[in-house]
Amino acid sequence: MTTIRFKKFNIEAYKPGKSSIKKIKQIVKLSANESALGVSSRVKKIVSNKSIKFFKYPDGKSTELRNQISKKFNCDKNKIICGAGSDEIIQMLCQLFLKPQDEAIVPQFSFLMYRIYAKIVGANVIFAKEKKFKVSVSEIIKKVSKKTKIVFLANPNNPTGTYLTKLELIELRKKLRENILLVVDDAYAEYMKNRDYKSGLDLFKNKENIFILRTFSKIYGLSSLRIGWGYGSRRIIDALNIIKPPFNVNEVAQKAAVESLKDNKFVSRSIKHNIFYATKLKDFLNNYNISSNNVSANFLLLDFAKCKFKAKYFYKKLKMKGIILRSTEDGYKIKNMLRLTIGSKKENLKFMKVTESIFRK
Ligand SMILES: Cc1ncc(COP(=O)(O)O)c(C=O)c1O
Repeated sequence: MTTIRFKKFNIEAYKPGKSSIKKIKQIVKLSANESALGVSSRVKKIVSNKSIKFFKYPDGKSTELRNQISKKFNCDKNKIICGAGSDEIIQMLCQLFLKPQDEAIVPQFSFLMYRIYAKIVGANVIFAKEKKFKVSVSEIIKKVSKKTKIVFLANPNNPTGTYLTKLELIELRKKLRENILLVVDDAYAEYMKNRDYKSGLDLFKNKENIFILRTFSKIYGLSSLRIGWGYGSRRIIDALNIIKPPFNVNEVAQKAAVESLKDNKFVSRSIKHNIFYATKLKDFLNNYNISSNNVSANFLLLDFAKCKFKAKYFYKKLKMKGIILRSTEDGYKIKNMLRLTIGSKKENLKFMKVTESIFRK
């Protein structure tokens, strides 16, 4: 018998935040850092628009969307590439930059897709230690070798919620060898109102050796449509366009993203909602000796070290009541912690009520 052979990868497949529980219909999903307020009403109109030509291929260059992005963020449309989620752009960057045996540096607890895509193209993933769950510039620099091609960084980081300040980010770029690409993933940038923070896009728009990632999956609420974008030098963008799947972003996603960019009110409401409930939930959980990172993105990393319950026990108890948090043991290998997404008002109140009842026992 012929055995069909294929490559074997030493990779733990990405496990997304759970979205269902057997036998429970009404669940509260606080496991995937999705938008608490849904989407802009402008997007809803687009999605129900009957004149969308589903039978035609979409614009492979996402022209109108790139125009809107360049207007909104005051940047060059020729330096933008759109992807089926920023996820696809991470994949393309790995394909473009990494050969087998090249090295990609990722912080110890960084977003999992950097290491997954880097390994798929045969690169070695080098982990830089973090200090108290925060990315450390000096630890990254220590890991640089002749083989280093790329450094990935989410700022703020998922799942830790910590971030490098503007000054630390500038320091990192200065200390890194110039021919190493620094990828700054701004996935949660819109939520950030912390004074010492600046997004990668705001800081490094014109740097040849920086690549910025942005997504419509978080504050804009378009996770299901799969759409994100990248911003880099003309040289890198032109090279990415050669390897990009021709029609990677569907028409509905492009149109919905264009509309979502026009709704500043929705974004402002989402930011306000997030800061209010993140602060409220952080304080509330503190009463039960569950500590968390300073409020930053639309999630909190909950630490059970001083709590009378273990994270696993709390997770299970919540699950029995239909509330799903993200285990940080899967993939991230962070023990006795959980990641909590800031939900809608109703979801947050339910989470608090159920938490009270778990601790009352
Ligand atoms: C830091 C970070 N980057 C990228 C992504 C992926 O986003 P997208 O939905 O655009 O692929 C996520 C999703 O959770 C994330 O947390």
